[in-house]
Amino acid sequence: MRAAVIHRYGGPEEFRTETVPEPEAGPGQLLIDVTLAGVNYADLHCRTGAYARYPLPAVLGADVVGRRRGDGRRVVALLRTGGGYAQVARAEAAFTVEVPDGLGDEQALALLEQGATAYGALVLAGRLRPGETVVVTAAAGGVGHLAVQLGRELGAGRVVGLASTAGKREFVRSLGAERALDPGDPRLGERLAELGGVDLFADSLGGPVLRAGLGALAPFGRLVSLGVRGGPEDTFTVDELADRSAGVLGFWLQHVLADRAGFAGVAARLFRLAAEGRLVARIDRTVPLSGVAGAHRAVAARETMGKVLVDVRREG
Ligand SMILES: NC(=O)c1ccc[n+]([C@@H]2O[C@H](COP(=O)([O-])OP(=O)(O)OC[C@H]3O[C@@H](n4cnc5c(N)ncnc54)[C@H](OP(=O)(O)O)[C@@H]3O)[C@@H](O)[C@H]2O)c1
Repeated sequence: MRAAVIHRYGGPEEFRTETVPEPEAGPGQLLIDVTLAGVNYADLHCRTGAYARYPLPAVLGADVVGRRRGDGRRVVALLRTGGGYAQVARAEAAFTVEVPDGLGDEQALALLEQGATAYGALVLAGRLRPGETVVVTAAAGGVGHLAVQLGRELGAGRVVGLASTAGKREFVRSLGAERALDPGDPRLGERLAELGGVDLFADSLGGPVLRAGLGALAPFGRLVSLGVRGGPEDTFTVDELADRSAGVLGFWLQHVLADRAGFAGVAARLFRLAAEGRLVARIDRTVPLSGVAGAHRAVAARETMGKVLVDVRREG
């Protein structure tokens, strides 16, 4: 089969399109003839070796859609050990769900990893309640643009998104956000304070944005962290939280996957919202296997809005 392979950790130039042996399925696993693979932000860290160092040579890629070997059913799967940027992927049966008729491959793939993350952050960790004020960072991104829509669908009183360019902010407003703010605005703290108390701040940026979000929380507000940079600004004291009866929660998708019934329920809910036209994933671009390097560069350059896909059946 053909795959985008790295032989050492490093920059996007490390990707090579090569012929490699097909994976074999062990107990509890299955093989998928992949049509599309997803590019996720974490893939960039996997590529540099900063996160989840897979044995080399490695095929990265954390989510795929395609046909299950054996019965040919359309399935979408989350791959916890990579292997997505390839024509055949090995998946855990527990992290695989069937795609309902009527839902296209692109939507199913774009909705699952990033939609389950958005849902988990807002609902499972953030305990979103009707009428609340929700702020989403990286709101034009793969997770963020679904979080904005889900916040609105799940009854938030208002949703505000953070995004770094005017074009992205226009997109965020088109999703139903009441306002869109610039995360680089030196007066971000003041802009957030103007909201009169944020009940739920879903943050994937950390640093000064996390600090600004923490400062804007309403009494009993929650900041849910999907990812931080690990610098001094990511730290806070219990006193700071007690001052506003606020909470900071971490969120990791792994804990949704650990509960098969819960994961299947989240997937079914996302797919139902999509079928009803209430949740729409934006596809930023679809690249061939040889385009994975360019896709990584585009995500790193903050150029993308929505989901980036790889058509593994095309080489160039
Ligand atoms: N905790 C979990 O289980 C979990 C699961 C999935 C994803 N995540 C996290 O959720 C976030 C979104 O993931 P995604 O795959 O949907 O990516 P994405 O949001 O499509 O892309 C990342 C976005 O982050 C923003 N950004 C800020 N600083 C950046 C930088 N230095 N380089 C690149 N982007 C930067 C950019 O938006 P602006 O230009 O608008 O700022 C960019 O569009 C990531 O932080 C990811 O690690 C966490």
